[in-house]
Amino acid sequence: MKNMMQAISINQWGSADYFQQVNMPVPELDADDVLVKVAYAGINPADWKMRAGHLAQAMPNLGFPLVLGLDASGTVVATGKNVTSLNVGDRVASGTNLFHSGKPGSYAQYVVVNEQRAVKIPESVSLAAAATLTTPATTAWQALFSSEKGALTHGQGKKILINGASGGVGSYAVQFAKQAGAEVATTSSTQNLSYVESLGSDFLIDYKTQDITQRLKSFAPNGVDLILDTVSAGSISNPLDLLKPGGTLISIATITDDGDIEASMALAKEKGVHHVYAMVSEEGMKQQLNKIVAMAAAGELILPPTESFSMLDIAQAHTLMETGKARGKMVLEISH
Ligand SMILES: NC(=O)c1ccc[n+]([C@@H]2O[C@H](COP(=O)([O-])OP(=O)(O)OC[C@H]3O[C@@H](n4cnc5c(N)ncnc54)[C@H](OP(=O)(O)O)[C@@H]3O)[C@@H](O)[C@H]2O)c1
Repeated sequence: MKNMMQAISINQWGSADYFQQVNMPVPELDADDVLVKVAYAGINPADWKMRAGHLAQAMPNLGFPLVLGLDASGTVVATGKNVTSLNVGDRVASGTNLFHSGKPGSYAQYVVVNEQRAVKIPESVSLAAAATLTTPATTAWQALFSSEKGALTHGQGKKILINGASGGVGSYAVQFAKQAGAEVATTSSTQNLSYVESLGSDFLIDYKTQDITQRLKSFAPNGVDLILDTVSAGSISNPLDLLKPGGTLISIATITDDGDIEASMALAKEKGVHHVYAMVSEEGMKQQLNKIVAMAAAGELILPPTESFSMLDIAQAHTLMETGKARGKMVLEISH
């Protein structure tokens, strides 16, 4: 294996023009890590927010040169001495250690990953699709099922609204909620209606041409049990009023567009409903990922269409991601 690798890094917070391709040492393994030869890096909205400096205060362990990338797929090429669940040669879907230790992310030929953030994938799951799994799918899973978030259990027949159903988090959430026996209404733009329907949505709302509040009345005259908002505060007017008494609004924390969190949680209490801000958590991530990969391997999960960018086109990918209108999931093709 090589000692040096190609990576994409930034040396200051700012625009997508600040990316540069660099040669840097392959990161060193800790005892609980595996070293992955990266095939694809998943590109997430958090990446551009990190690049622009929006997470700089929340993540003081980040330093320059900074290699972004929270998700990856690839092949294990070395294992730390404590690693038991993965072997050299395994194809994996993984997160990275960037968020937790500031180690280089997946916009690189190699990435070190704690084994708890990596799972083996079968041949039937493509490496491109595998790079879209870790952050979006576990965020959706936890938002719906974690006891302190949606607390959804199988067979409750609950009514759920998923706002932003065509995105990375939303497209997994629609499918997980359907598989749990929920009735699912979704919002998306006109061009994504048929995609969201193909994921299993029972009730389509085109937020470009329809009033969400009015339309939702025919789906749930007494309100829905759960709203999963993957978009932002303000994308639905008065979302707490669309809930049944005791219902829950789960807002995926966007960092940039969360509105007044304290005020909204207090208002929810007054109205007899709940408002939870959800951050993806490490807890149970490996088991969740293993379940999700098994569903994909069994053909029970539609993986989002991927749009692939070369390392040289990273600025273009980030600029598109920043619009919030990318279709499917963007991935950076590293080597495969
Ligand atoms: N805090 C955490 O732990 C965490 C984890 C994961 C994600 N996130 C955040 O969650 C958000 C979503 O992430 P993602 O990966 O799903 O993003 P994404 O793949 O870029 O999807 C965003 C989707 O939002 C839809 N959209 C835009 N405006 C809308 C509106 N007004 N109403 C309804 N849908 C709208 C777009 O679809 P249309 O073209 O159909 O409008 C797009 O598909 C991001 O802000 C991300 O940073 C946070």
